[in-house]
Order: sequence, then C-alpha cells, then structure tokens
Amino acid sequence: MRTLPGSPVLRLRLLLLLLAGVCTDGYKPVVIVHGIFDGPEQLKTLSLFITKVHPGTEVSVIDLYNNLTSLYPLWRQVQGFRKAIRSIMRKAPDGIHLLCFSQGGLICRALLSTTPDHNVDTFISLSSPQAGQYGDTDYLKKVFPDCVKKAVFEICYNRLGQTVSICEYWNDPHHRSKYVQSNNFLAKLNGDRPHNDMKAWRENFLRIKKLVLIGGPDDGVIAPWQSSHFGFYDSNENVVEMRNQEFYGNDTFGLKALDARGDVSTCVHSGVKHVYWHSNYTVFMSCIERWLT
Ligand SMILES: *[C@@H]1O[C@H](CO)[C@@H](O)[C@H](O)[C@H]1NC(C)=O
Ligand SMILES: *[C@@H]1O[C@H](CO)[C@@H](O)[C@H](O)[C@H]1NC(C)=O
Ligand SMILES: *[C@@H]1O[C@H](CO)[C@@H](O)[C@H](O)[C@H]1NC(C)=O
Repeated sequence: MRTLPGSPVLRLRLLLLLLAGVCTDGYKPVVIVHGIFDGPEQLKTLSLFITKVHPGTEVSVIDLYNNLTSLYPLWRQVQGFRKAIRSIMRKAPDGIHLLCFSQGGLICRALLSTTPDHNVDTFISLSSPQAGQYGDTDYLKKVFPDCVKKAVFEICYNRLGQTVSICEYWNDPHHRSKYVQSNNFLAKLNGDRPHNDMKAWRENFLRIKKLVLIGGPDDGVIAPWQSSHFGFYDSNENVVEMRNQEFYGNDTFGLKALDARGDVSTCVHSGVKHVYWHSNYTVFMSCIERWLT
C-alpha cells in the first residue's frame, strides 16, 4: 500500500484541502443591499426565493442605513456598506454575488468602483437609477413635498443639497452644466466630471465577471425607467439608450469594456411596479436565479 508523502501535518492539510473542494461545491454567498426608505424587512421575500431555489446559499441582507437614514450622503453609506460587505468577502475565497435594489444599486456600483480588492462575481442591479433620476414621484414628494421636478435642481445642485442621497443622483437634463459642476456622487462615479481616480475606479469595477441590469416600463418610480439600463434623457427629454451615452462611448467607468466582453446582461419586464421587483417570483426566476451559482 502506498502512503501519502510528507509529514502527518502536511497530510492532514492535504486532506482538509480535498474535503474543502468537495464540500463547498455549493453556491457563492449572496449579499443584498436595500433601496431608499426601506431595509432588510422588505427584502425577506427575495432572500427566501434564493434559499428555496438554491438551498444552502448564505444570504446576507445588510442592515444599515434603513428607512429615513437611507437619505444620508451616499459616499458615507458606501463606507458603511463596504465595511459590512468586506467581512463577508473575506470569508468567501471564491467570491460573492451582489444583488442591489434601487438606490442600493448605485451604492453597490460606487463600492465596486472604489474597492480595489473586491471579489464580487456577479453584480445584479435591480431597478436602480444607474444613469440618474429625473421625475415627479412619490419618493420625491416625501423628501420635497411641494416641489416639481423642474425646480428640484435649485435645491439639489449646491453643497447642502448634495448631502441628501436623492440629490446625489438627481440628473436634470435641462441643467447639465450645474449637474456636472455640483454633483458630488453620480457625476464622479460616471466620470461626467473627469477626475484623477477614474482609471483606477474603472479597473476596480471591471473585476466583476458579470453585470445584470433589470428594470421595466411600469416601474413608476425610476424616471426614465431606462435609467435602470443606463439609458437617460437628452436635453429634450428623449431617452438615449446606454450605447449612445457619452460615458459609454468614452468608457469612463468600464461599461463599454464590460459590454465588449459580453458581460452585460439586460432583463426587461413590464407589469412590475417599483416596490414589487424584489418580491416577484417570475422576475426572480427569469432575471436573477441563473446568475446566483
Ligand atoms: C424601518 O421601518 C420598518 C417598518 O417599515 C420597521 O419595522 C423597522 O424597525 C425600521 N427600522 C429602523 C432601523 O428604524
Ligand atoms: C468624452 O470624450 C470627448 C472627446 O475626447 C471629450 O470631449 C468629452 O469631454 C469626454 N466626456 C466625458 C464624459 O468623459
Ligand atoms: C410579476 O411579473 C410579471 C412578469 O413580468 C408581471 O406580469 C406581473 O404583473 C408582476 N406582478 C407583480 C405583482 O408585480
């Protein structure tokens, strides 16, 4: 009979290594980040979908900046979420999946762009205003009760305004230069206002294997709804699709490169209102499930 080479300690290590290979053939951990005015409570159904279809998956819904505190400045939220998600990444040598809803999708993208050592495999952006927001919605009314979209730039595009999350992705197509000058978050993230870290941020973002963009025309909150797929209004409020956006053409943050690699997947569903995206089983099975392996 042949014996394994090396010392008993070495053999034990080898055995453990083999066992680890056999026993962790399961699913990568999934981290969920909530949207504006909600929290882990609202994302319970989504995590149940995942564990039902992929038993044994470790799902974490990050319990930070819930409800009203979701209005806190986004870069501050990114720091908080990074800290929480980092400890999950450390325990997952094969990487994790990031599934982020609405405003959470912007937080997640900023986190990916500014975290050089992340190990996120698939980033799923579930109805997030990735190219910004410009619309009269209930959410806007909650923050600025007597304001119409045309006037919001006056509140948002200054120092004070830029300490409220919704203002940090408010993208008024009629006040483009004010947006580029004063916006503290989206204009930086998308490279609309060029800065020195752009190259590094782009590389960080490109560490992901796959970007999945989900949204649809009956959303009712994300405006234009195509922002969930990186489309946005031009100055006449006609929607320009992702591939004709300047940030795409210039590949300021890696979107074009990711697309050229074949790693941008889009999913469109009609009949889904904003707050139902994460609890709709049809959406889960057709847009999300296959990526969470
Ligand atoms: C947020 O609101 C939900 C109800 O929608 C409540 O159950 C929860 O305790 C709140 N969380 C915090 C941190 O206030
Ligand atoms: C895109 O590239 C053009 C031409 O080089 C440049 O004028 C423009 O400022 C760039 N836009 C962005 C958003 O980087
Ligand atoms: C769930 O998604 C399906 C397919 O897009 C849609 O027809 C249906 O209206 C949605 N249901 C809800 C409650 O959002």
